[in-house]
Amino acid sequence: MYQIRLRALSTFLLLVPLALASDHGGVGSRAFVTGSWSLVQQGTTGVSAMQLVVVSETSAVILDKVEHNPLMVDGHIAWGAELNINTRTVRVLNPTSNTWCATGSFIGNGTLVSTGGNPIVITGANGLQAVRLFTPCSDETCDILEDPTRIRLTSPRWYPSSARLSDGSIIIIGGSMIGGFINNASVNNPTYEFFPPKNINGRCFNGLQIPMQFLQDTLNANQFPIVEQLPDDTLFIAANQQAMIFDWKTNTEVLRLPNIPNGVRVTSPFSAGSVLFPLTPENNYTPEVMICGGSTISDTQASNTISAETPASAQCSRMVLTAKGIAAGWSVETMPVPRIMTDLILLPDGRVLIVNGAQTGVAGFVIPGVEVLHEVGNSFADNPAFTPVIYDPSAAAGSRFSSGGIPASTIARMYHSTATLTPNGTIMLAGSNPNTDFTEMNSTIKYPTEYRLEFLSPPYMSQARPAYTGLPVTVDYGSVFRLSITLPSEAKNVSVVLMDFGFATHGVHMDQRSVKLVSELSPSKETITVTGPPTPALYSPGPAFLFVVANGIPSFGHRTIIGTGASPPVDEGAIANMLNKTSDPSAEASPSTWST
Ligand SMILES: *[C@@H]1O[C@H](CO)[C@@H](O)[C@H](O)[C@H]1NC(C)=O
Ligand SMILES: *[C@@H]1O[C@H](CO)[C@@H](O)[C@H](O)[C@H]1NC(C)=O
Ligand SMILES: *[C@@H]1O[C@H](CO)[C@@H](O)[C@H](O)[C@H]1NC(C)=O
Ligand SMILES: *[C@@H]1O[C@H](CO)[C@@H](O)[C@H](O)[C@H]1NC(C)=O
Ligand SMILES: *[C@@H]1O[C@H](CO)[C@@H](O)[C@H](O)[C@H]1NC(C)=O
Ligand SMILES: *[C@@H]1O[C@H](CO)[C@@H](O)[C@H](O)[C@H]1NC(C)=O
Repeated sequence: MYQIRLRALSTFLLLVPLALASDHGGVGSRAFVTGSWSLVQQGTTGVSAMQLVVVSETSAVILDKVEHNPLMVDGHIAWGAELNINTRTVRVLNPTSNTWCATGSFIGNGTLVSTGGNPIVITGANGLQAVRLFTPCSDETCDILEDPTRIRLTSPRWYPSSARLSDGSIIIIGGSMIGGFINNASVNNPTYEFFPPKNINGRCFNGLQIPMQFLQDTLNANQFPIVEQLPDDTLFIAANQQAMIFDWKTNTEVLRLPNIPNGVRVTSPFSAGSVLFPLTPENNYTPEVMICGGSTISDTQASNTISAETPASAQCSRMVLTAKGIAAGWSVETMPVPRIMTDLILLPDGRVLIVNGAQTGVAGFVIPGVEVLHEVGNSFADNPAFTPVIYDPSAAAGSRFSSGGIPASTIARMYHSTATLTPNGTIMLAGSNPNTDFTEMNSTIKYPTEYRLEFLSPPYMSQARPAYTGLPVTVDYGSVFRLSITLPSEAKNVSVVLMDFGFATHGVHMDQRSVKLVSELSPSKETITVTGPPTPALYSPGPAFLFVVANGIPSFGHRTIIGTGASPPVDEGAIANMLNKTSDPSAEASPSTWST
């Protein structure tokens, strides 16, 4: 037994120099643990995991649409829950308004802000202009707070995206004024706004929404735009086949980027996965994005001519966001199988897991007046992409994708499914619900409402893990702190990685990020001195999980707050003007047009 382990270890050590030898991608030190992955199915989510966000070292918030979940709260059906990641059980949450296709981002003080939603109510309130606050707690007493008389969006948003900004506030971008299959000019909301409201781009916008031309130009398939905060304090935004660099401080489009190659559309209902590769001192924090999957189906095609059996795109497009990188344009690679509605998850070892989704069709389900050809039950997609793929951005082109040793799931995770990294380094897979209302799991419905959770463990989970103590509650920019560490023997390449696991919904992972910190191991290897991120644009003020990674094996990721933990700036004048110029739709009767 012991000998077998030793042999495995020496194989591992032999592989290390090989992996490092191919590290010419500039993404930093690399040593990946090879070997078997494992997949366990354990626990259920109580409500369908349309939205999934890790909120503490032990828990995640799950938000669904208002539908007939068996779980009840306060005498009515539930659509929110907090999952204990360790016990894999849920406690019910009680949002007031419909969270259906809302977005979410943390602000600088660690409060999660969920915005937008849907007006259709079985119970609860119209959520189109909702702002919901959830401040994580350790005693399981916290809940989602809403007060639309004081805190609301300026305009209705279903399928918006959001991003945490360098001042700890958030920007909320786009979406439609009402629900439907695909966006169009009459329901488009081609604007952005901030929470808390700001007055920075002209008096007429004081606290209100600001037009964004890009959201006109990208109709029809531009819901849930892909947004990444860049180290120079601008935003990368992609929608449909287009992309741009946007400066929110001056309300200017800095640059329109080359289109996604080969006619691939990347946002809903042609949902692709996307990721910003790790930002490291070695790569001079140079941003590079990758977008995988989507579809080449036309966005003006009538839904009843679209087929659930049309292959999705297998294309991954990556581009370095520097003048030189943009001039070189997108470089294109091909995934092992096509994928729509896939999730791209950053791992602490610098690689990207491509998981979930379908191989054919589009995002969506049957609603009155909208059907597609060959729909499966209510699902507009078919042929689930069961096998996860690992992508190594630093490997040579042609050898970056691999599914070796990764078990395939048997659970379809298509429309309204999610995935996220957990603090211990596993990947949690949840949701899938291509159904208008809760649909029981039985033999007659092929793709029912999916409550079962799965946890995927990369090979590093079964190795001796590094451990550390001494993480400060807050880590300010450029501040220096020392961690006490325990390293597995033979650990040579030790790095410290800050991660934002993001807020997952519809394949978009708002704020997902990995930033490697400058660190120095003591000669005794018992402590490591770490320097906080250099600037707020590199890692916006707010929650982060910190991993010590040794030879590709991450420690547990403990939670801290980057910055001071202060609340984002509040402009009372902007709030007053917003309240004066907008009304609270949650009090009005909601157009319950669907017979749910
Ligand atoms: C650690 O990684 C660096 C690249 O960042 C590499 O040059 C070095 O050889 C590695 N050291 C060991 C001991 O693996
Ligand atoms: C625009 O979208 C809405 C919501 O899906 C739909 O009711 C309306 O018919 C669409 N309009 C056009 C012109 O397609
Ligand atoms: C299967 O589920 C559907 C939808 O929930 C329900 O109408 C039907 O009665 C169920 N059938 C069986 C055999 O349980
Ligand atoms: C984290 O994973 C390790 C396996 O690598 C396991 O032994 C440990 O119990 C896990 N810790 C938590 C808090 O889940
Ligand atoms: C964070 O800031 C928001 C907005 O100002 C505020 O509503 C919330 O209570 C704050 N949370 C904490 C934990 O201070
Ligand atoms: C908005 O401000 C105007 C002018 O100050 C005032 O007359 C009006 O009553 C205010 N409306 C609301 C809804 O507060």
